[in-house]
Amino acid sequence: MRDRARLLVLDDVDALAREAASEFRRLAASAVASRGRFAVALAGGSTPRRLYALLSDPSAPFQEEVPWNDVHFFWSDERCVPPDDPRSNYRMAREEMLDRVPVAPENVHRIEADRPDAAGAAADYERELRRVLAVPESEIPRLDLALLGMGADGHTASLFPGSEALEIRDRLVAAPWVETLRARRVTLTLPIFDRAAAVVFLVAGTDKAQTLRAVWDPSAPPGAFPCQRVRPIDGELIWLVDRPAASLLEPR
Ligand code: 6PG
Repeated sequence: MRDRARLLVLDDVDALAREAASEFRRLAASAVASRGRFAVALAGGSTPRRLYALLSDPSAPFQEEVPWNDVHFFWSDERCVPPDDPRSNYRMAREEMLDRVPVAPENVHRIEADRPDAAGAAADYERELRRVLAVPESEIPRLDLALLGMGADGHTASLFPGSEALEIRDRLVAAPWVETLRARRVTLTLPIFDRAAAVVFLVAGTDKAQTLRAVWDPSAPPGAFPCQRVRPIDGELIWLVDRPAASLLEPR
């Protein structure tokens, strides 16, 4: 992992959110300047909440600097719940950010994971990704940024240890059953993450320290954890972690 990624340790979750917001702003400006749009897949869970709130905070230096009209929002994964369910990643991003910034509704691409046919929703989402990012079936769409978290078991998005979804190479979106959660999820798959221009992991909290040490252990078998399997082919890979999560890492 070490040879492919940039790891930054930030003092606390607020410092992590500020660093992540700076990266978001930098990558957005670069993408809009060169491609006229910024396509970002948002991470779910709780860690990104502060980042989304900071980006949309009018008193912070980011809101007026992000080209919101040119941003297309996707999600890295979604729970199979209605969009107004407290567990919804879409709802969290809407509450913390999307309802407070001038983003065009047609540029918010929700995963319809609440549909009874989750596999159909996954296939439709893949079509949406290809349509918006304007690539044919034969190519993999290139996200400008994929935001990801890491679970204490090393999962990322909804790619969990042992999941068959980790082996998918011919589909960009899947709807795996997650036994540990006793629930189905809809998730982007490794090919689209590996095609991204930038992947930024956001990891915070002491509960992640043991896993982060294992993930960054150079002697560990590569790919033991799903998060290690995200390897952008020609893109940036940045890990932003807070000091508690980094507390067991070897000094760098
Ligand atoms: C989800 C996320 C998931 C999350 C990790 C970390 O839908 O839950 O996509 O992969 O990023 O579980 O979650 P926390 O940020 O809450 O620790």
